[in-house]
Amino acid sequence: MKNSLKQIFVCNSCGSIHPKWLGKCPDCEAWNSIHEETVQKNQYQQNLSGSKADIKPLPKVEEKLERRLFCGVPELDRVLGGGLVVGSLILLSGDPGIGKSTLLLQALNGLAQRGYKVLYASGEESCTQIKLRAERLGSLHMNILVTNETNILAIIEAAKVTRPEVLVIDSIQTVYNPELPGSPGNVSQVRECTNLILQNAKSQNISTFVIGHVTKEGNIAGPKLLEHLVDTVMHLEGDHSSGYRILRAQKNRFGSTGEIGVFAMQGHGLVDIPNPSSLFLDQNKKGCEGSAVTITMEGTRPILLEVQVLVGKTSFASPRRLATGFDTNRFTILLAVLEKRAGLYLSTQDVYANITGGFKIYETAIDLATAAAVTSSLFNKLLPAKSAYFGEVGLSGEIRMVNHALARIQEAQKLGFEKVFIPAQNYQLEQPHILKLVEKSEHPFFVIPVEHINEIVHKDR
Ligand code: TYD
Ligand code: MG
Repeated sequence: MKNSLKQIFVCNSCGSIHPKWLGKCPDCEAWNSIHEETVQKNQYQQNLSGSKADIKPLPKVEEKLERRLFCGVPELDRVLGGGLVVGSLILLSGDPGIGKSTLLLQALNGLAQRGYKVLYASGEESCTQIKLRAERLGSLHMNILVTNETNILAIIEAAKVTRPEVLVIDSIQTVYNPELPGSPGNVSQVRECTNLILQNAKSQNISTFVIGHVTKEGNIAGPKLLEHLVDTVMHLEGDHSSGYRILRAQKNRFGSTGEIGVFAMQGHGLVDIPNPSSLFLDQNKKGCEGSAVTITMEGTRPILLEVQVLVGKTSFASPRRLATGFDTNRFTILLAVLEKRAGLYLSTQDVYANITGGFKIYETAIDLATAAAVTSSLFNKLLPAKSAYFGEVGLSGEIRMVNHALARIQEAQKLGFEKVFIPAQNYQLEQPHILKLVEKSEHPFFVIPVEHINEIVHKDR
């Protein structure tokens, strides 16, 4: 076996392969990221052997309709792009304890109920623990096969014998290939095991979920190494304490990325939340000081969220600015814009901002709501009732347009909001649609175009 092994040098940060050790990776320019690894020789020689490539003109390519299985967990099916594609390989990553095993056990139960045979290989928990959890989740089913095997060759052999439709490997850090040196979880083991799992998924047409823990820096062990091998990368995140979990597709060969699924962790497992907006807003229908509602897009889905801001006199030499749920740097810039362009005196004030429900927002459309919330907290004044805000704030205080304006407005209308403040440019572009929506609304509904941050800050004061 030994002579079929080969030493290569792999960059831990970008995954590129080099013939010798280097201090700095020439591809991604990371320092000290190159490590020696042992791999099976034949794998890298396969490509060089004289097998014939199948070449044809693009229009002549046969269209194979991908077959999909439904897991019976609607939010998961949606993030997958409308069900689980047969023979696809999916990586599910997330912090330890966030609910990855729970989610997949529920999905396996859904599949088992539909008559599919599934195999759950867990190196993390004993079969007894899995059974206890399954009882709690109501997921005991004869079609769910379990094993504690961690030898990847044995797992693949078992899959060949039992022929399940779906295989789950929990987790990639606990499985190992006995033909390679190194303990489970090291970069070469993770890579080689994933390669074997991939080959098995494609050749046997077994849809496979691989669970991966995230390291401290937020990378899946062997960063990027796995991501390009698999068809879909999903990330489960959320605030442990809030009980909400968000499933995001970061890469999906069979659907759109940016889709999210929202769950609540309860005593009997993860429960789908088909309408997250209403959930995050329930507590605050009347509104309170320093709180503004924004409409953010998650994939194709508008979600209403609350931005809360607390402004208070500082007791430090330089005032503190802290944002949870969105970018602190961007928040600091926004405060500078409010100070310079709208004349708010903030340099002696600490400003803290938070998105309720443990949600994270990565888009700039939240700016306008944050600005409104800062104003409200600073002047101890309630914002207009049942109002929502979206728009990007530019450095000169101008409100810049954002995408999917109409979808956002529609969502606010649907949830009973009465006023939506939007970028003036978006208003111009969508005017006919907006007017139609306003006309059809059964409750009073106003869409208010905003050109400059001053119009929000100095309104009604
Ligand atoms: P788990 O799926 O084991 O997390 P992971 O596989 O990502 O490490 O989830 C563990 C947490 O979920 C655990 O702290 C308890 C909680 N939990 C519930 O709150 N309700 C439940 O029904 C289950 C099964 C778990
Ligand atoms: Mg687990």
